[in-house]
Amino acid sequence: MSDQLSVVRTVAGLRKAVERLRAKGESVALVPTMGALHDGHLSLVRLARKKARRVVVSIFVNPAQFAPSEDFATYPRNIRADLRLLRKLNTDLVWAPSTSAMYPEGFSTSVQPGGPAHAGLEDTYRPHFFGGVATVVSKLFIQVGADFAIFGEKDYQQLKVVTRMARDLDLPVKIIGAPTMREPDGLAMSSRNVYLSASERAAAPALYRALKDAAAQIKAGKPISTALFSARERIVGAGFAIDYLEARHAETLGPINARKDGPIRLLVAARIGRTRLIDNIGV
Ligand code: PAJ
Repeated sequence: MSDQLSVVRTVAGLRKAVERLRAKGESVALVPTMGALHDGHLSLVRLARKKARRVVVSIFVNPAQFAPSEDFATYPRNIRADLRLLRKLNTDLVWAPSTSAMYPEGFSTSVQPGGPAHAGLEDTYRPHFFGGVATVVSKLFIQVGADFAIFGEKDYQQLKVVTRMARDLDLPVKIIGAPTMREPDGLAMSSRNVYLSASERAAAPALYRALKDAAAQIKAGKPISTALFSARERIVGAGFAIDYLEARHAETLGPINARKDGPIRLLVAARIGRTRLIDNIGV
């Protein structure tokens, strides 16, 4: 285990630390997170390690991407456990700013993403969300100056929004998508899974199973609408209320009616009890 992990909490401290990391001209990969790290996050750190010589992980629960009605106050936070996990993976640097370091008094600039941020998926149910993500992620990119940044496919629309934003703003960072890590029963790992009661946790894998079956049916030539109809029944039958369940073009996130117009991505958001889960899968 390395004891080289340093944690910085100010922009000035970060700049100095990154400068030191780069002293020998080494490449840097950034993994942005909100902490409460699980194996999904850790898979991103491992991928970062393969892409670059140095790995920076940011931990910041970003108030700008939560609506007042959402779980900002109760979002799981456990920096000590996070640091323990990151140390085991030989992370070089953790960027863990306070809210006032990220958004100093008088902060009044934001990045408003378009394109995939207006696809009518997460943005319909969380209208504030991608503006908050784009603002903090562009700040993180500028603060760290990484060569690579790793994002999970788990948050598929977010991955597309960030990729578009980096391209549109000529940010000199290459965005890399990483596959979704799942529990053995198929449930996508998420920091919010801790909110699930035992019975909700038992029902939750229905989401992934329904997506997988729908993808298999579409591949086998069934009409998209038929495949989605049975997936919807299955998800509702497991006790979920569906926000959306859609087949979209995997790159543009635009509507899609037939397999030949693909590649297709199936995306779902659904609520069970007080927990909202999202998942997606390629066809
Ligand atoms: P957070 O939810 O902590 O996720 C951090 C990163 O981990 C994201 O890129 C997310 O897609 C990825 N991730 C989450 N669960 C995963 C899983 N099961 N398998 C693989 N990757 C997974 O997403 C955010 O934070 C924030 O919006 C952030 C980008 C940090 C901006 O505040």
